[in-house]
Amino acid sequence: MSMTVAVVDDNEVPLRWALDKMRDAGLDVIVQSCTTEDEIIDVARDADVVVIVIAPMSERVLRALPRCRAVLKSGVGVDTIDTQAAADLGIAVANVGNYCAEDVAEHALALALGVARKLLPDDRRVRAGVYDRTRVAPVHRFSAHTLGIVGLGAIGGALAERWRGLGGSVVAYDPYRDPASDVSGELRPLDEVLRESTILSIHTPLTDETHGLIGERELALLPPGAFVINCSRGEVLDGAALVAAVRSGHVAGAGLDVWEPEPVATGDPVLELENVIVTSHYAGYSEESFDDLRQRVLDQVLQVRDGALPTWTLNGVSALRRPPTA
Ligand SMILES: NC(=O)c1ccc[n+]([C@@H]2O[C@H](COP(=O)([O-])OP(=O)(O)OC[C@H]3O[C@@H](n4cnc5c(N)ncnc54)[C@H](O)[C@@H]3O)[C@@H](O)[C@H]2O)c1
Repeated sequence: MSMTVAVVDDNEVPLRWALDKMRDAGLDVIVQSCTTEDEIIDVARDADVVVIVIAPMSERVLRALPRCRAVLKSGVGVDTIDTQAAADLGIAVANVGNYCAEDVAEHALALALGVARKLLPDDRRVRAGVYDRTRVAPVHRFSAHTLGIVGLGAIGGALAERWRGLGGSVVAYDPYRDPASDVSGELRPLDEVLRESTILSIHTPLTDETHGLIGERELALLPPGAFVINCSRGEVLDGAALVAAVRSGHVAGAGLDVWEPEPVATGDPVLELENVIVTSHYAGYSEESFDDLRQRVLDQVLQVRDGALPTWTLNGVSALRRPPTA
């Protein structure tokens, strides 16, 4: 049976290998970078499968795609997809599992170590001819830090494991974790985690509940001189509150991979802060994670072609809907 796959945002480079394989398998593949709902509707109108990165798959868009049986997120967070509306329409929504948990954990760790050792400000001073190691004080060894993790899922868990390996201690807030799974006694209420964390790393999905979860009140609960890392979604951390906390000196630095809005605007005050490392939402990238990503997108497209549900379906759909016959 012929089938159309529409790739509707800036997905082509990481997925090129998978797209070639789909074409080899006889599928029609349309690739177009869309930024508006109308563009997506235009491009994906006849698609059986829509592949996205951050394209807005609202109820309006989903309703306008009569043939669509699955929306595949080429990544993890599905916050730009109305998963409930999709479920109501019988459209399966799937991501690619935790393909990059190790990589995001490593990126968060790199940011944490970089800001805690104050590498960038010293690097800039040395390049400017200021060779003065007294300016970095205070710096603490990693084992003296307590890492607070908000969202102890695949990424948060991988980070905790790596942090323990450095000899540091971990506390975590995750209301959806079964307390019985907390063998090492690290799960705590949020405010307790905030009071104990000298480094706070955020790893929740973006949901109504996590939108603005870490704001002015929460940052104020951190010990003075703490660091904040965000590799989840920009909206989970109140950017203006973070800037104010860094300017006041209460927060001693931050590592940010995600933004609200994304990309970070030129002139955003966060870019003027000294001990803040900023990266371009690439925490999930490594050559190895992208190999997994490509393979998992391809496998799930072929599953839909064969009438099976994609492996990482996450919106409760239990069977693919039938395409219209006309
Ligand atoms: N920066 C990047 O490149 C990148 C890459 C991959 C994922 N991400 C982001 O990281 C998020 C987490 O990914 P994951 O693979 O660890 O997902 P996961 O589902 O394995 O873990 C998320 C954890 O957050 C917890 N959680 C949910 N609501 C919470 C709340 N209100 N308070 C505290 N904890 C809460 C869940 O119980 C779960 O344990 C993704 O949703 C995505 O937005 C970013």
